[in-house]
Amino acid sequence: MWYPIARNLLFMLPPETAHSISMQGLHQAASIPFLKKQLAAQFQYPEKNLAKTCFGIKFPNPVGLGAGFDKNAAYLDELEMLGFGFVEIGTVTPKPQAGNAAPRLFRIPDQKALINRMGFNNEGLDIISKRLKDRKAKNNSPLIIGGNIGKNKVTENSAAWMDYCTNFKGLEEVVDYFVVNVSSPNTPGLRELQEKESLRKIFAELQNLNKNNKPILLKMAPDLERAALDDIIALTSEIKIDGLVATNTTIDRSLLNALNQEKAKKIGAGGLSGQPLLEKSTEVLKYLHQGLAGRIPIIASGGIFTGADALSKINAGASLVQIWTGFIYEGPSIVKNICQSLSTHT
Ligand SMILES: Cc1cc2nc3c(=O)[nH]c(=O)nc-3n(C[C@H](O)[C@H](O)[C@H](O)COP(=O)(O)O)c2cc1C
Repeated sequence: MWYPIARNLLFMLPPETAHSISMQGLHQAASIPFLKKQLAAQFQYPEKNLAKTCFGIKFPNPVGLGAGFDKNAAYLDELEMLGFGFVEIGTVTPKPQAGNAAPRLFRIPDQKALINRMGFNNEGLDIISKRLKDRKAKNNSPLIIGGNIGKNKVTENSAAWMDYCTNFKGLEEVVDYFVVNVSSPNTPGLRELQEKESLRKIFAELQNLNKNNKPILLKMAPDLERAALDDIIALTSEIKIDGLVATNTTIDRSLLNALNQEKAKKIGAGGLSGQPLLEKSTEVLKYLHQGLAGRIPIIASGGIFTGADALSKINAGASLVQIWTGFIYEGPSIVKNICQSLSTHT
């Protein structure tokens, strides 16, 4: 009830400032045990009937937070308090990165969308893995943590596989599954790594290191042509890829109405997320699911705001769903709302 008012206030601030104030506020609230209990009672979905095992991991519920929200794994307890079944941290790169110059995150409120060109700003592997190790040492929470990994901007594509391997080694002990991110539009040339030979190299090297059989997934762009999707489907029967995340943000501005296309022109480069992405990412998901004939699970990401949106992803073949932009527009009750809806419809 109160979130629309809070959102109006937050939307008066620049998006990154609003993000950091909200997370710090949540952190303060969670540090008071009474308040933490109240918030958990308000936002968590208490029934256990949504627990789901996927790529060998038991997820407390199928609603996760997409990569890029808690890039530095700094707010996991707070996000768990809000009811997420899993959180994908990162994208983590071996060395710390400042990302692109601000402004780099923009709202398009009348279509419930965002455009971002963050550029993998993160504190880097060493700090993030230490934070996760410290958390693990004092906390046995059931929250599932995914490690979304990428390459540094300065790393040439030909050496990118080494960055993925460095990240893998540094995070292996502290995350439950990995996601290879080659689909962000904000690191120059990164999306070229979605081509078959590059993926084969990255996954072969990672699986070579993967003595404990950690699930390693691939996150894909929604802008790939059918032929590229077919290549990826074929690759999954050639090399061990444990699942897919479909999809990342899009560079396609035709999903916006005419007025917002003008606005987007002024904003410039970046990935579009939120409601306009819903159908496009579901189409990719459906195509992949049919091509894979259910061989490996798919996590849906893109435009999920409601239980009906989540259900449309599950009907298209998703095993789990992730939200990001929906969290900004709908507020913290989004997780419970989606869980409630899924528990009555699945
Ligand atoms: C500001 C912002 C930063 C993001 N950063 C990352 C990232 O670092 N790595 C990644 O794989 N995806 C990143 N994403 C993409 C989201 O994880 C998600 O796949 C995408 O936004 C589509 O979902 P949505 O429509 O629910 O937002 C980012 C999205 C936004 C809006």
